[in-house]
Amino acid sequence: MDLQEIVDDTYRALADSRGAGKVADYIPALAEVDAAKFGIAVVTPDGRRFTAGDAAEPFSIQSISKVFVLALAIDRHGDALFDVVGREPSGDPFNSIVQLERERGIPRNPFINAGAIVTTDRLIDRRSDEDAFDELVSLLRKLARDDSVDYDRDVAQSESRTGARNRSLAYFMEDFGRLLNPVETVLGVYFRQCALTMSCEQLAEAALFLACDGVDPETGHRVTTTARCRRINSLMLTCGHYDNSGQFAFEVGFCGKSGVGGGILAIVPDRASIAVWSPGLNREGTSLLGARALREIAERTGWSIF
Ligand code: DON
Repeated sequence: MDLQEIVDDTYRALADSRGAGKVADYIPALAEVDAAKFGIAVVTPDGRRFTAGDAAEPFSIQSISKVFVLALAIDRHGDALFDVVGREPSGDPFNSIVQLERERGIPRNPFINAGAIVTTDRLIDRRSDEDAFDELVSLLRKLARDDSVDYDRDVAQSESRTGARNRSLAYFMEDFGRLLNPVETVLGVYFRQCALTMSCEQLAEAALFLACDGVDPETGHRVTTTARCRRINSLMLTCGHYDNSGQFAFEVGFCGKSGVGGGILAIVPDRASIAVWSPGLNREGTSLLGARALREIAERTGWSIF
């Protein structure tokens, strides 16, 4: 199988549809991105890299950051993390508040915003927000083998200025006694993690450990245990696209995590870590062209996990 040919063919087949979907504009700084961007990067456990289009251009990774925060928080707390966050798909939009009251401030899973906020709170734990965010950025730089990984200050500020819904979720959970840290401390880290900018190449590289039982195969660095790696992948499959997680599993068949910046990270255990980017989104906040590209790659490689 010629993976570079598959990536090139996928890019060519979809390039005319660049600009499809709707760029997220509820965070003003995100609305400024060029809708015609389109990148694909596939990294395999033997260290080979296959790319097309704008694969080297950094973009706002948004909710894809929740995967890395989850990996660190599970490692910090083990299964106790799941006392404060569930592992069921929500069937509701990413920023929904509706289940929180009925389920006593315990979010359904770590990828909806409420669940990610409490996971970030547990990443901070009893230390400073700066130490926690530094740990996250250091991990990403190490795994991506690129010290330039950083966050976009304008996007983080824009997130905070327009963050009324996230504040509502966080205060709701605080009222149920679910947070260890003050709401603004937790959201300060959450807004910065969403504003991290990475390219498809860097993202696919940084997430390769999830395709390799928790170990970065290029350095031998164990990021998480095999069991926890499986848990993260299972949550990506069942909850990674919110109320279109079923649709993504049905169409693509990879573990995946979307972000409203138009990126999707996909994991195919033992085979590859894949990142795609196209800013136009569907109604549920998943990159329209990105999901199509992954479906194309799944069909051409036969890599569906089912
Ligand atoms: O919390 C928010 O609103 C965003 N910064 C992140 C949301 C996001 O990426 C949802 N994913 N598709």
